[in-house]
Amino acid sequence: MPNAPITADPADLHARAVSAWFGERKVLDRVSLAMPAGQVTALIGPSGCGKSTFLRILNRMHELVPSASLAGEVLLDGVDVYAPQRRFTEVRAHVGMVFQKPNPFPAMSIYDNVTAGLKLTGRRLSRAQKDDLVESCLIKAGLWNEVADRLRQPGGALSGGQQQRLCIARSLAVSPRVLLMDEPCSALDPTSTRRIEETIRELMHEVTIVIVTHNMQQAARISDRCAFFLAEQGTPGRIVEHGTTEAMFGAPTDPRTADYIHGRFG
Ligand SMILES: Nc1ncnc2c1ncn2[C@@H]1O[C@H](COP(=O)(O)OP(=O)(O)OP(=O)(O)O)[C@@H](O)[C@H]1O
Ligand SMILES: [Mg+2]
Repeated sequence: MPNAPITADPADLHARAVSAWFGERKVLDRVSLAMPAGQVTALIGPSGCGKSTFLRILNRMHELVPSASLAGEVLLDGVDVYAPQRRFTEVRAHVGMVFQKPNPFPAMSIYDNVTAGLKLTGRRLSRAQKDDLVESCLIKAGLWNEVADRLRQPGGALSGGQQQRLCIARSLAVSPRVLLMDEPCSALDPTSTRRIEETIRELMHEVTIVIVTHNMQQAARISDRCAFFLAEQGTPGRIVEHGTTEAMFGAPTDPRTADYIHGRFG
């Protein structure tokens, strides 16, 4: 089956007692969170409470900051991504990331943008396999219909929302098992935002999604589970409450969660 699509199953992700530091400064304190396979988990909370730091710990990007350190475990289907024998390149192929600002390679073609991550996996594909992969990733990212007739045009020529979907297609090309998204819609207009939200709901069947958002309506619309982060009065960020989105929005147990969700602070 030379042209069989390369697929992977969504993985369970489980953070256990994760703490993080930048130099001497502790910014996360013993954060534990289960992010179940095939679900969308939303991380919410005020600015500076450590959501992005937590996300970057999940795929070992935190260690790229020279002053950064951490404690705790991150289990990907039960195996710690920080185990000594695990290479960070392998972890990043399994756990993809989409950022706040769309970051395609602007001069590179749409086609080459999608396949740009393949080198990381060391997988060699024939031309026909690549064509199939590009098509299937663009379909999954909800962009195929808009770009099928101009795959050789530069990625930088797309609109902001299209560029973000191109970045999603690029991250899908290496068959990640988890996709991390850090405020992926905050630079986009409402129509593009809706389009990305639809894409997220379609993708959750094949990849576990963890998304940071400041938009409470968005968290309510797209997530199955939520975790509310808070760093009070100069203390490190902690999870105040987590659970199903229905429970978090319908009947939060902590008054601080209710206040935040209803826009009373942050
Ligand atoms: N590279 C860094 N070096 C030093 N401190 C950092 C670095 N990145 C983040 N911090 C600090 O860590 C804390 C958590 O930051 P983080 O970016 O994770 O917050 P956040 O919840 O994502 O905020 P926002 O909602 O504004 O994106 C903040 O106090 C921040 O100043
Ligand atoms: Mg952030």
